[in-house]
Amino acid sequence: MKNNKDKIKVLTIFGTRPEAIKMAPLINRLKQEELIEARVCVTAQHREMLDQVLDLFKITPDFDLDIMKKNQTLTQITSRVLEGLEAVIREADPKIILIHGDTTTTFAGALAAFYHQVKIGHVEAGLRTCNKYSPFPEEMNRTLTGHISDFHFAPTFRNKQNLLKEGIPENRIYLTGNTVIDALIETSKKEYSFSDPELLKVDFNKRIITVTCHRRENLGEYMQNIFYALRDLTEMFSDIEIVFPVHLNPKVRSIAAEILGDIERIHLINPLEYQPFVKLMSMSYLIITDSGGLQEEAPALGKPVLVVRKETERPEAIEAGTVKLAGVQRKAIFEMARDLLFHRKEYDRMAKAVNPYGDGKASDRIVKIIKESFGI
Ligand code: UD1
Ligand code: UDP
Repeated sequence: MKNNKDKIKVLTIFGTRPEAIKMAPLINRLKQEELIEARVCVTAQHREMLDQVLDLFKITPDFDLDIMKKNQTLTQITSRVLEGLEAVIREADPKIILIHGDTTTTFAGALAAFYHQVKIGHVEAGLRTCNKYSPFPEEMNRTLTGHISDFHFAPTFRNKQNLLKEGIPENRIYLTGNTVIDALIETSKKEYSFSDPELLKVDFNKRIITVTCHRRENLGEYMQNIFYALRDLTEMFSDIEIVFPVHLNPKVRSIAAEILGDIERIHLINPLEYQPFVKLMSMSYLIITDSGGLQEEAPALGKPVLVVRKETERPEAIEAGTVKLAGVQRKAIFEMARDLLFHRKEYDRMAKAVNPYGDGKASDRIVKIIKESFGI
């Protein structure tokens, strides 16, 4: 057994719900390693939605910047994270900082690591739309993060190709799969029955459409279009129920309440913990979303997904046939969903379990790479 001072110090930094879900398996895997001292810093760019995940995966952060403010701006998040991380990085003195994906916490975390000349490992590296403003600000967050990172943990071969095209040296890119599949497999193994009173009101004998929608570039007219399309669907189909756990962003909540508030068979509920949410997805007929993570999870569960965005950085599941890009126009979204609800053959073609994103062992691979790179 080595002394604490000989251990590799790894500091993981994250702040939002999806980062927490995707980093949790990796953190718990790092903690099993005797020769690694794994510490966790949350920026708490999200608060309640982050804490739900920390509780489920039993992660107690060593540092909590607690930066979230209602209706926070990108500048506020970036500057609070950068300032808050000064003292944390000084105290933790890590050999490597791990950040995840494409949020503003990700970019500010990578920048703070760079300012302290600490090595950076980017988990979920190499996703690109190549459109600076879509998704906004995620496309630039992940591109800039990629260019200051030292280790690039790419989920898919295509992600690796994207990085190579940008001149990232091949020997710094590691094909690992996506840790979301690690989290999904671990979570779906556990028995779970719904206890949320809102979910108990849903008639699961009907066909369930699970909806999530929160992207900044969809706020406003596009989000209105998406929500009107949902209303149109309930008018045409009496055998569907829509379950929509609404993101805590006040801007999303007000548009949802205004357009979907009093519609029969549309359940606007609070964000669900990860376990009930996975169960809800697995009981759904169809998923309509602009989320990144759902595009990776739903195909693994064999659930067709309509992505209500103009483009996606996750084309793998589209190519595999379980995801379709539905755009952000009311009529097109309605028609695409209507066809899947009417035509069983078309539905069955999409509803097959495919999983281009990993085998549940991404965290193992990342830990092995870190150990080898630091001489263990
Ligand atoms: C953020 C990320 C986005 C990611 C998404 C996942 C950025 C710029 N955006 O977007 O990439 O896909 O998280 O959900 O990094 N709020 C709460 N409680 C919470 C969480 C949010 O009240 O637990 C409210 C706050 O008023 C907050 C607002 O939601 O100001 C928006 O949160 P923010 O993190 O700025 O943006 P998201 O849209 O959540
Ligand atoms: N999720 C959850 N509860 C919910 C909605 C989503 O646990 O009520 C999970 C979902 O399974 C996925 C992640 O949160 O793993 C997606 O987060 P979000 O949509 O906020 O962000 P994105 O994936 O778009 O970055």
